[in-house]
Amino acid sequence: MHRKKILVVDDEKLLRWSIRQKLSEWDLEVTEAETGDEALQHFQLDTPDLVILDMNLPDMKGSEILKTIKTDNPELPVIIITAYGSIDDAVNAMRLGAYNFLTKPIDYLKLQNAINNAFEALSLKKEVARLKEKVKKSFDLSQIVAKSESMLNILSMTKTIARSETSIILLQGDSGTGKDLLAQAIHHLSRRSLGPYLAINCSAIPENLLESELFGYEKGAFTDAKQRKQGLVEIAHKGTLLLDEISTLSLPLQAKLLRFLETQTFKRVGGLKDIEVDIRVIAATNQDLDLISQSGEFRRDLFFRLNVCPIFIPPLRERVDDVLPLTQHFIQEYNIKFRKDIRGLNRKAEKIMLDYTWPGNVLELKNALERAMIFEEGGRIGTEYLPIWKARPSTETKTTGETSIDSASLSLKDMEKQLLIKALQEAHGNKSQAARMLKVTRDTLRYKIKKYDLE
Ligand SMILES: Nc1ncnc2c1ncn2[C@@H]1O[C@H](COP(=O)(O)OP(=O)(O)OP(=O)(O)O)[C@@H](O)[C@H]1O
Ligand SMILES: [Mg+2]
Repeated sequence: MHRKKILVVDDEKLLRWSIRQKLSEWDLEVTEAETGDEALQHFQLDTPDLVILDMNLPDMKGSEILKTIKTDNPELPVIIITAYGSIDDAVNAMRLGAYNFLTKPIDYLKLQNAINNAFEALSLKKEVARLKEKVKKSFDLSQIVAKSESMLNILSMTKTIARSETSIILLQGDSGTGKDLLAQAIHHLSRRSLGPYLAINCSAIPENLLESELFGYEKGAFTDAKQRKQGLVEIAHKGTLLLDEISTLSLPLQAKLLRFLETQTFKRVGGLKDIEVDIRVIAATNQDLDLISQSGEFRRDLFFRLNVCPIFIPPLRERVDDVLPLTQHFIQEYNIKFRKDIRGLNRKAEKIMLDYTWPGNVLELKNALERAMIFEEGGRIGTEYLPIWKARPSTETKTTGETSIDSASLSLKDMEKQLLIKALQEAHGNKSQAARMLKVTRDTLRYKIKKYDLE
């Protein structure tokens, strides 16, 4: 531990000298300042661990210096020295955030106690802050609502897999079923919980950047590579990396990922050296990887490599027992957020929630409740604020069958565009879901959205 640095601010040379003697005896490092100005200048160079400040200085009011010091360093303990009898000064100083005060002539035993107590209080404060931070970061499994049998099974399986040594996990499930949430849970339940947790959405980053994002690059690897950069795979060492929307990975990158998964080594872009890391990869997707790997869009061997520990989260409509517990969970969450006191749903609203098919899954349910809670004043949520009242459960055939377009007046192109718009609307803008409705891949959908300028 470093020796604690004490700044002594007093215009009496003799007093400074005798304080210095004592502090040195107590193994403290001392710097001195004769005036307020000198004291503040000292702060430009170095921040002391504690300040002993005389309230009576020739150039500045003690209270002013104290204010300045405390504004910039709110946690820094300042012990005040006042002339005997100047109670007002002392009270004022304490109000301004001084840690303690002593009257002249100085009782050194009191000074020593005051210094020790100040340091102890400070380290306690730091410890509390550290623990608070830790609690905030630690993941509480009770955040995951699971009442249905299938979800309970998934949770217990997740716990086992999380604590195992497996370095590859595949998370499959429709949009909004809770894949992100489960990935975080896996990290926090694993021995890697103290290591980093990083997540990247493979579809959100242009293909040409994704490789260097994942694996990093060496200086000079390409024109803009002025400095070596570490990729996520490297930064996630000893931790977990979530590769979200894995199905959108390009074929060349799929090959690179496969090589990495098989060897746990990789090369930075433009690098020659193999770098070894210890990470767990969680691949998440809302696509049926088995299916798309049969059609050649996704490498079959990569699918098999990823599929060692698969976890499949069923859509919400297949676990109706979770609907009301989830509802209650989000109502509580939004009660806190919106400072409301909503107790639940009324009967009719409950029935609607249970009958609805939730194509957008938990995310859709959460959003529906958020909206309702913004409008509902108190008591129980009724049907009037639930948007799903009007939204009819949609099935893929229905979507296309229902198209109420006068086809005679439209070109094929127009038809396609209308269909796209309709699917996107029904899927509330969720592209994966719209793609599924239209039975095309996400890439095709993305291409068509661009083509018709529907973004
Ligand atoms: N079982 C659950 N308990 C509590 N909250 C949940 C549960 N499942 C999902 N959620 C919440 O629903 C929202 C959507 O979940 P999440 O983002 O994890 O879904 P996702 O499967 O990753 O969706 P996408 O495929 O769109 O990325 C999040 O706010 C998440 O916290
Ligand atoms: Mg997600």
